[in-house]
Amino acid sequence: MEIDWPLLRAAAADAAARAYAPYSRLRVGAAGLTADGRVITGCNVENSSFGLTLCAECGLVSALHSTRGDLGGGPGPALAAVAVVAGDGAPLLPCGRCRQLLLEAGGPELPVDTAGGPVPLSALLPSAFGRADLSARREPG
Ligand code: THU
Repeated sequence: MEIDWPLLRAAAADAAARAYAPYSRLRVGAAGLTADGRVITGCNVENSSFGLTLCAECGLVSALHSTRGDLGGGPGPALAAVAVVAGDGAPLLPCGRCRQLLLEAGGPELPVDTAGGPVPLSALLPSAFGRADLSARREPG
């Protein structure tokens, strides 16, 4: 699939401009290309109870599911590419928690934009815990 990185970065910057980040004053926007060719976005949303902050990627993953074409029950929709930027428009590397969220949404090969160009998510989250570990290691019953 052809990935229009400038378009994704621009969509992420547009989302960052809509962020609610009065406490950190770090606006973040995330844009993703879905496997069915749509561009979806998310922005960070902070709260006066600081621990409740939602990262931009959380909004992105929620949008991935809430805009899916079917009603669920299947393997779930997939992300094909992700760009995350700060309010200055430059790439921002996803935090650790969000790397794990992106893994579930796009898999280890998911291309993630960085200042040096796109890299597979597995380079940012090596030796990851994932769905296969759950099914392989949980107790029967
Ligand atoms: N933030 C994100 O939105 N995504 C990340 O991957 C890193 C951090 C936000 C959360 C908080 O609103 C602000 O950046 C400062 O941590």
